[in-house]
Amino acid sequence: MKNAIVIGASSGIGLELARLLVKEGYTTYITGRREEKLKDLQAEMPEMYRIKVFDITDLEASNTAFDAMCADLGEVDLVVVNSGWGDINKKLDWNIEHTVIQTNVVGAANMCVRAMHVFYKQNRGHLVGISSIASLIGGRLNPAYNASKAFLSNYLHGLYLTVQSRKQPITVTDIRPGFVKTDLVKGDKIFWMQPVEKAARQILDAIKKKKRMAYITKRWTLFGWLMRFVSGWA
Ligand SMILES: NC(=O)c1ccc[n+]([C@@H]2O[C@H](COP(=O)([O-])OP(=O)(O)OC[C@H]3O[C@@H](n4cnc5c(N)ncnc54)[C@H](OP(=O)(O)O)[C@@H]3O)[C@@H](O)[C@H]2O)c1
Repeated sequence: MKNAIVIGASSGIGLELARLLVKEGYTTYITGRREEKLKDLQAEMPEMYRIKVFDITDLEASNTAFDAMCADLGEVDLVVVNSGWGDINKKLDWNIEHTVIQTNVVGAANMCVRAMHVFYKQNRGHLVGISSIASLIGGRLNPAYNASKAFLSNYLHGLYLTVQSRKQPITVTDIRPGFVKTDLVKGDKIFWMQPVEKAARQILDAIKKKKRMAYITKRWTLFGWLMRFVSGWA
């Protein structure tokens, strides 16, 4: 029996990915702050979903919840750190920047570390972080958002290196979505916007292939290459 924890599964990419994991036979813990949304998802297949409600910016509550989920599942095969937030911040409001950093950097890193310690102990496991193509470049609309994703991608790489040096069979995957149609993305006519179902399918594929890093959807690989070329050249 396989099991998974998806941090941030009450909407968007995390919700769709949780659906696919359940279809693959994973008993799946889904988390978020909006309990009703989690209950709606659980109602689709109550025997396969379990719920934990917590705010990842509350580190104590997150750790207590994470430990309880692990104890309930026994061994943990997969942890997806998907929760994230951002908003247009043209006025550079510190409250927005601060929330982004607390959510996407502090909260996400805390969950990654918690998961890694479980995997070190189990001597197996798979950590997946949902970063972004925004990790590749500074952003004028919400500087903290792009910087937070740069942190996460870099951090996941560091965690991967810890596994290499420990020689343990643990996988770390950095997922970098481009624009995906979810509540997070404001505005219509957005370049290369991809359906969330397609993005989730490709994330599942990257998980199955135990990829180190994947651009989602695949077309965004072009952007990744371009950014690597430009940064090497500048
Ligand atoms: N959509 C895109 O174009 C895109 C592109 C690149 C990367 N991403 C990344 O993909 C991930 C998922 O985003 P999405 O587009 O699917 O947006 P979404 O629908 O808004 O989903 C965000 C998820 O994160 C959870 N979350 C946010 N803040 C939280 C907090 N403080 N505590 C606990 N959970 C929290 C939300 O749950 P609650 O609100 O219930 O707490 C929700 O389940 C994010 O990390 C985002 O940065 C998205």
